[in-house]
Amino acid sequence: MLMLINVCSLRAQNASGNQPLSIVPYPVSVSTSGSKFVISKSTVIRIDANNPELLQIAQTMAGELKSLVNSSVAIGINNGSKALNNIVLTLNHTADTLGDEGYKLSVHPTGIVISANKPQGIFYGLQTFKQLLPVKANSSTVAIPTTNIIDKPRFKWRGLMLDVGRYFYSVDFIKKYLDYMAMYKLNTFHWHLTEDHGWRIEIKKYPKLTQVGAWRAGTQFDRAANQVDNNPHGGYYTQDQVREIVAYAKDRYITVVPEIEMPGHSLAALVAYPELSCTGGPFKMPVLWAIQKDVYCPGNEQTFTFLQDVLTEVAALFPGPIIHIGGDECPKDRWKLCPKCQARIKAEGLKDEHELQSYFIKRIENFLLTKNKRIIGWDEILEGGLAPNAAVMSWRGIAGGIAAAKQHHDVTMTPSNFMYFDYYQGEPYNEPVAIGGLLTLEKVYSYEPVPTELTADEAVYIKGVQANVWSEFIHSAEKVEYMTLPRAAALAEVAWTPARLKNWEGFKDRMDAQYKRYDAMGINYSKSAYNVWQTVTNAANKQATITLATNSAKPEIHYTTDSTEPTITSPVYKAPFRVTTPATIKSATFKGGKQVSKVSVTSVNPEHAVFEGK
Ligand code: ACM
Ligand code: ZN
Repeated sequence: MLMLINVCSLRAQNASGNQPLSIVPYPVSVSTSGSKFVISKSTVIRIDANNPELLQIAQTMAGELKSLVNSSVAIGINNGSKALNNIVLTLNHTADTLGDEGYKLSVHPTGIVISANKPQGIFYGLQTFKQLLPVKANSSTVAIPTTNIIDKPRFKWRGLMLDVGRYFYSVDFIKKYLDYMAMYKLNTFHWHLTEDHGWRIEIKKYPKLTQVGAWRAGTQFDRAANQVDNNPHGGYYTQDQVREIVAYAKDRYITVVPEIEMPGHSLAALVAYPELSCTGGPFKMPVLWAIQKDVYCPGNEQTFTFLQDVLTEVAALFPGPIIHIGGDECPKDRWKLCPKCQARIKAEGLKDEHELQSYFIKRIENFLLTKNKRIIGWDEILEGGLAPNAAVMSWRGIAGGIAAAKQHHDVTMTPSNFMYFDYYQGEPYNEPVAIGGLLTLEKVYSYEPVPTELTADEAVYIKGVQANVWSEFIHSAEKVEYMTLPRAAALAEVAWTPARLKNWEGFKDRMDAQYKRYDAMGINYSKSAYNVWQTVTNAANKQATITLATNSAKPEIHYTTDSTEPTITSPVYKAPFRVTTPATIKSATFKGGKQVSKVSVTSVNPEHAVFEGK
């Protein structure tokens, strides 16, 4: 099937230019002066006295420089002198417009100063500084361009979610994921820890959750055969490992928001403790991806005792102020037939099962408030009435986010059509299997989180934006990387950069430098942005117009119309062209004489106005 999507449309942004440094997300203000500062082994990183956080950031910076120039850079105290050849990290900063996360980065010919109100700002200054360094240095010095950068984020919630329920990833990989987040100044790791298909967090009081609920009989779902293999899959994080990950995130100024799903997506817990369901079970761990009808029974007091015990342990493990309680996709089938649920509806004077779900979430909210935690939930928690202090994650489009903001509740925007990184990022025939959908790099980049439907007063409730990596079809850490990068770079710019400074042409240029960094880091990122979109239009009157485009900067596209493989000697695409007889168009992107994309294929039969992708 050919996807008739014109990825070149809606180009509201101005053309490239004036983005001289390859920084992602692009800062609020950048000026350059054409000179250089040379970092050598005599350069000293100087920090304010008695500040362990700055010391840690300085050590990270020294580590980066050591791997680049192969000699140690000393760390000293900032004594206020105007000595040359220093990289100063300081909180002695006179303007207060930078907030908690902003920073200033000045590279002079004689030294560097990164200043901020808080260490978090210095940390983000370091992330920008790293992007000014060359990917590799062949000598004991590195020159970086002189610049003045003033920067702070647009949104407070800059999130990335990872579903470890459908598939388990190692502690080491979670740390890498956090590193990628930090690189892009993302500050909220939403850790989807429980699912129908796996319970992944050790709960001391309920050991069967992980003894039983963390393991299932099959791993890989084969869509064509509609079946799962027989390789058992499972795993969970011990509480010590959770603490290790939370500390690792904290060092990178990332808040971890754990998600404990309720009332739906809870079958793994019910396999372990069937008495918490409406029917009493027994249940088996599911191996197919479908929404499960067996969910927690809110007619049963034991359910609340259990969840409160679980949340007590969870609240103690995660220092952040917010716990995600799920709330999505909870079928009401069992509640409708359950005498206990129906008795609860009656006793509480509830109208229906939606209000029963709302009762459930409100009870959990009240409990968590006693632990000083607020809840966030998927937008279904609006149905039957929002809990008074709940924040909403809008995933079924943006309507839930709009409704919640109008009710003055905090919102994180994560609409599936812009922010679900389990979707395909190119033509499916050129991609590893994904859940469906289509979410190109350009589409992620184009997202505007503040809906026009909101007044300025309501818009302040849009706290930010997040992308979600659901893992039904992501059965390796390498594939998480593939699905996450480079789209997380586009997310970062949506979340950080002022809307007026977003620039798709400039972003594509800057991504070329990012790809080189990914290569140096050994990341299995997607190169789908290089793949050619072959769009067929005007397929009438026995002719068709073919337009070729990519999501990459200045692509050199070579193509054929006779179904042979495109090579560097095939014609170069310059402008849309016509075909008047049946043809198979094949094209690919080349850089420096080498093919960097897969081959795109479209069959066109202009006589019948029929055209098909591979
Ligand atoms: C969701 O995608 N079910 C939140
Ligand atoms: Zn029930």
